[in-house]
Parts: sequence; C-alpha cells; structure tokens
Amino acid sequence: MPPSISAPLPPGPKGIWFLGNALEQLRDPLGIFARGCERYGDIVHYGMGPGGTIILLNHPDYVKHVLVNNPQNYVKPFQGGKLLGNGLFSSQGDFWKRQRRMMQPAFHRARLAPMVEKAVEGTRSMLTRLEAQARSAKPFDVEQEMTWVLRSIVSQSVFSLDITELSPTVRDAFEFVMAFGRRKISIWTVLPLPRPGRRRYKKSIEILENAVYELVRQRMRTPGEHQDQLSAMVAARDTQGEPMTDKQLRDEAMTLLVAGHEATVSAMTWVWYLLDRHPEVQRKVREELATVLGDAPPTAQTLPQLQYTSQVFAEALRLYPPAWVMGRLAKEEDQIGGYTIPAKCTVVFSQYVMHRHPTYWEDPERFDPERFAPERKGSQPRYAYFPFGGGQRLCIGDSLAELHALVVMATVLQRYRLELEPGFRVEPEAGVTLRPANGLRVIAHPDPLAVTTRRVAGV
Ligand code: HEM
Repeated sequence: MPPSISAPLPPGPKGIWFLGNALEQLRDPLGIFARGCERYGDIVHYGMGPGGTIILLNHPDYVKHVLVNNPQNYVKPFQGGKLLGNGLFSSQGDFWKRQRRMMQPAFHRARLAPMVEKAVEGTRSMLTRLEAQARSAKPFDVEQEMTWVLRSIVSQSVFSLDITELSPTVRDAFEFVMAFGRRKISIWTVLPLPRPGRRRYKKSIEILENAVYELVRQRMRTPGEHQDQLSAMVAARDTQGEPMTDKQLRDEAMTLLVAGHEATVSAMTWVWYLLDRHPEVQRKVREELATVLGDAPPTAQTLPQLQYTSQVFAEALRLYPPAWVMGRLAKEEDQIGGYTIPAKCTVVFSQYVMHRHPTYWEDPERFDPERFAPERKGSQPRYAYFPFGGGQRLCIGDSLAELHALVVMATVLQRYRLELEPGFRVEPEAGVTLRPANGLRVIAHPDPLAVTTRRVAGV
C-alpha cells in the first residue's frame, strides 16, 4: 500500500510524561492490550517513551496484512543471540528461506510414525515419576513435570536420545538456560545493565552447545542410522546441492530443542487446568481414549482418530495461547485501516486478545471444545485464531506440537486423574510464553476405570 502523508496515526492512550505507556506495559502486559482493544478498537497506538512506538492490531484482516499480504515490509524485531544463533526462528531474508526449505523434510508427514514412537518413548520416565506421585498422593507441580517430559520427547525427536540424560552437567546447563530465558520481563531486560546470572548463562550455553556439537558430528559420521530430525537435517541439501555446516546444524538443533518444548509445556499445563475445571470434557476425552486406544499406547494409526482430544487441545490454545503476542518491525512506512504505520515502529498483535475477541467468538470466556468440531471449521476469519502464527513464518512444528500434546494427554489420562490442589490460585502470567504465575499444583489419582481395565486385560 503506498504511504499517504494525510493518514493519521491510530488512536491510543497517551500514557505518562517521557515514559508514555512503557511502565504500564511492564506492569500488566496482558491487560494493556486487552484494554486498548476494548477502548480504541481495531488499531491502537502506544507511545513507549524512549522505547519508541508500538501499534497494536486487533482485526483479523490487519494481522493478515502483516503476515501474509505484505510480509516483506515486516521483519522479526529480534535476533537469536548466543543460544539460538542463526536458526530458523531468528534468521531472516534469503538465508531464512533457504533454511526453511532445508528444514521442511524434518517435519514431513512421512516421519509421523517414527515421531509418535519417539514421543511415546519420551513419556517413559514421566510414568515412573507419576506412579510415585500417585502413591504419595501429595501435590506436585505439573508444569515442572510437563517441562521434563516434553524436553525428553523433543530431544528424542531430534536426536533419538534424551540429551538431559547424557550427564548431570548437561541437564543442569539446559535447566539454567531455559530458566534464565524465561525470567519475567523486568528492569534488567529494559535497562542496558548486565543481568545477574549472565556469566553462568553463557557458560551453560557452552556446555549445552558442546553436547549438541558432539551429537551433530557423530551423526555426520554415521548418517542414516536413525530416523530422527537430525538425520533429516544432515541429509538436506540446498538448491546448489550444499549441505548445512556443522554450525548451522548446531543452530537448528538448538532452535528445535528450545522452541520445540517451551510453548508445548505452557499449552499442556493449561490443558490440565482446564480439564480439572471441566469434568464433563474430561469424561468425554477419557471415553474417546478408551474407545480408540484402550490400554495401548498411541500409534501413527490411532493418534489421528483422537478427534475430540485434539479439539480440547485447540480450545486450550485459544483461551491460553502460549505465544500470546507476536511482533514485527515495519521497515518502511505503510498504511493499515486508513492509519499510518510509521517506518521503524513495532507492530504487534496478540493471540490472547484476538482469541477472546467478542466480535469473532461467541461467549469467548467459555471453554468449549465443540468450537473446533469439524462441521464448524471456518466459522471464524482465519486470523481470529492463530496460536501458531501464520503466513510464510507459520510455526514449522504445529503438527508435531499437537502430536506431542496428544501423546502426553493420552499417556497420563489412560492411568491417572490430575486434580488441582484445593485452594490453589491460578493466575496467567505473560512472560516469554503464557504460564500460570506460580506453576500448577495437582494431585495424581490412579484412574479407577483404567486400573480395572488393565487388571481385566492382565497388563
Ligand atoms: C503449542 C506449541 C507451539 C506453539 C504455540 C508455537 C507457536 C509458534 C509461533 C506463534 C511461531 C511464529 C512466531 C513468529 O512468526 O513470530 C512459531 C514459530 C516457530 N516454531 Fe513453534 N510453536 C509450538 C511448537 C513448536 C514445536 C514443537 C517446534 C519444533 C519442534 C516449533 C518450532 C518453531 C520454529 C522453528 C519456528 C520458526 C519458524 C520460521 O520462522 O520459519 N514450535 N511457533
């Protein structure tokens, strides 16, 4: 769209002298956007003082404009840093395009069967831990449990082993790197001061990186030994017939390890919360699992039959989207909805706001997996629901995330019922992903029905 001199800036709150709305954004990142949408409508302008300008888009067509119609003008506003390097999540331009093409085979549908097997393999240590939890009947943090199990599953998918089991040093390094990256947005992220723990963070990345390099080099020596994502990446060639360098393989493997579990942990934590609050939904999921799987672990044939369970996952992603906001930097001035988008300003759109927008969702606060029943497909505009982003940079792991979530849900619910600790308060907190502020404390009860079925089946 050609820029027009006469188009005004979108409306928005003034904020306070010098800092604009920056403090409010730090204090209440979810609330500031929800209120902006309510008060100002489809497009909102926020001055952020020295932090520049943010423009929030609350209309599906505007989101589509940035992600699909004019993506060449809107680039990712950050770099991958020491951890992710130049991997798929952070790279840009032609290099990103080359990498996206080369990474696609690692996510190909043909790999579905081995991916389900690897996910089931990754749940084994969780079952041992849950058994102990159920025996003790004491509350535990299921967010922590989801972190362990999904880290193991993703690591199995990429390397055919659990990287955290290589050594306690690697496990602790991975733990620290993730915890450091997930720290709440605070004064340390805003001011150009060295953050406490920075040195340990760098050291931990080095430890993790050495382990990844070792696995990459082993695989380059013996390609084709495993049916995992690293093998697909080692075998990939660009249009000139060139493979990825070991540095690029390191960056991509690290990206999959990090991006591949962080958001799914958030989604699964909310799934357990919602299932506890909605026993009738939980009952339907159990019925489906009993009919389709019985006692058996999911397979590539049975997993796609878990229709209702996948609707529950989709609806959890609607109400509690792990990626609750996305941003792009406008390279050139543009126009959206009759307003000017100045060059160099940050354009954001929030899944948390759009997924609860009353114009597009009936009774938006209600948890209702029937919204995603096949016969209701297409009831909303495409960009009223975008938990995995969209356009050319749509999450490459969207199907794999669902596969992992369904395997974890099935494995737990075939044996246990997770009950929220009585009196435990759940409050969403918007950090890197949307998480409950204090984790999610639950008690595991053996599911009496599942126990009986196993006894009858002699398992
Ligand atoms: C529920 C789970 C997940 C959610 C909600 C999620 C969400 C997202 C979103 C919103 C984006 C787009 C970011 C942007 O354009 O600014 C994205 C990109 C990406 N995701 Fe996911 N993701 C999930 C799981 C996964 C998994 C399992 C993997 C890999 C194993 C993965 C790997 C990636 C990568 C590599 C990108 C960058 C793609 C590109 O730019 O070409 N994600 N994800």
